Amino acid sequence: MKKFSLFLFSPILSFKVLAAPAEAVPTDSATPTIGLSTSELLVLAAFLLALVALFATVVMLKALKVIVNERLHPKPFIKYEAPKPLDYETWQQQKKQKPNIWSKLLSLKPIEEEEALVIPHAYDGIHELNNPVPRWFNVLFYGTMIFAACYLYYYHISDGPGQDEEYVAEMDKAAANKKAFLATAAEKFDENSIKPDPSLIAKGKTIFMANCIACHGEHGQGIVGPSLTDEFWLHGGSINDVFKTVKYGVPAKGMASWEKTLSAKNIAEVVNFIMSLQGTRPANAKAPQGEKYEPKSAKDTVTHESITKK
Ligand code: HEC
Repeated sequence: MKKFSLFLFSPILSFKVLAAPAEAVPTDSATPTIGLSTSELLVLAAFLLALVALFATVVMLKALKVIVNERLHPKPFIKYEAPKPLDYETWQQQKKQKPNIWSKLLSLKPIEEEEALVIPHAYDGIHELNNPVPRWFNVLFYGTMIFAACYLYYYHISDGPGQDEEYVAEMDKAAANKKAFLATAAEKFDENSIKPDPSLIAKGKTIFMANCIACHGEHGQGIVGPSLTDEFWLHGGSINDVFKTVKYGVPAKGMASWEKTLSAKNIAEVVNFIMSLQGTRPANAKAPQGEKYEPKSAKDTVTHESITKK
């Protein structure tokens, strides 16, 4: 056994020896450390091959040992005992107890029952069996007939819609769907298309109360975050800028990106609410931070008055 294990490990040892100089060579920073050179690969392949050969040898040796053992000390065969034959009646009863789903589905009768199925007349000595098709098949068959009659009546006699009319109807439906889709698509909000919309303020307030007051205060007066009620802004004061700040956040400064938490519509709502806070001057408001926002054109002016007076 000792000899054998030495034999088993010798390829591994030899691989170690072979691999050692390769390891000793300082690896260039440009060459990836996991990549193997061709010679290393060859050594590895040879090693694996040797391992497989070794395994096969061991298996064959084992088999040989078994054969030799069996030859020297043959073991007697176990005596085979045939199972007791089942008598016909019990077999039939057993069979009857559990009818096969398959034969039930196809209403197959066992061959032993055939005698009972014979119809008592013969044509040239040929007997017929009374073996009706299963009920489901008949239902299907007569069903197709009824369907055909209905189809014939609806489309050909009572003047149901023809192919052309059906086509037109489908196209009308698709056009209506398209219109509905485009209408909802126009509802999509982003930082470029956002417009002041006073109807969104109420919903925006609930969103603000649920998500933002911890840092911006109940009245937007500012706590950890800046006051949202003055005209000084860190990241721009147009409705588009505010939308952008809320959507993408300022993660480095503790303002989260709300893109994943709130839908675009929700952001539009909360942004409209924030714009409605302009100039509300709540008590204990935080000192203004950032730059004063000067609207570039009249339509950029979104003040408390302009937004609520629509
Ligand atoms: C964890 C605290 C925190 C929460 C919650 C939070 N913010 Fe902020 N927010 C901040 C901080 C801090 C800043 C300032 C970022 C900076 O210094 O650049 C800020 C900045 C802003 C700004 C830009 C202000 C400016 O002067 O440009 C807006 C707008 C804003 N937050 C809206 C919101 C809205 C809307 C919510 C809720 C959906 C919200 N924030 C929730 C901490 C928060």
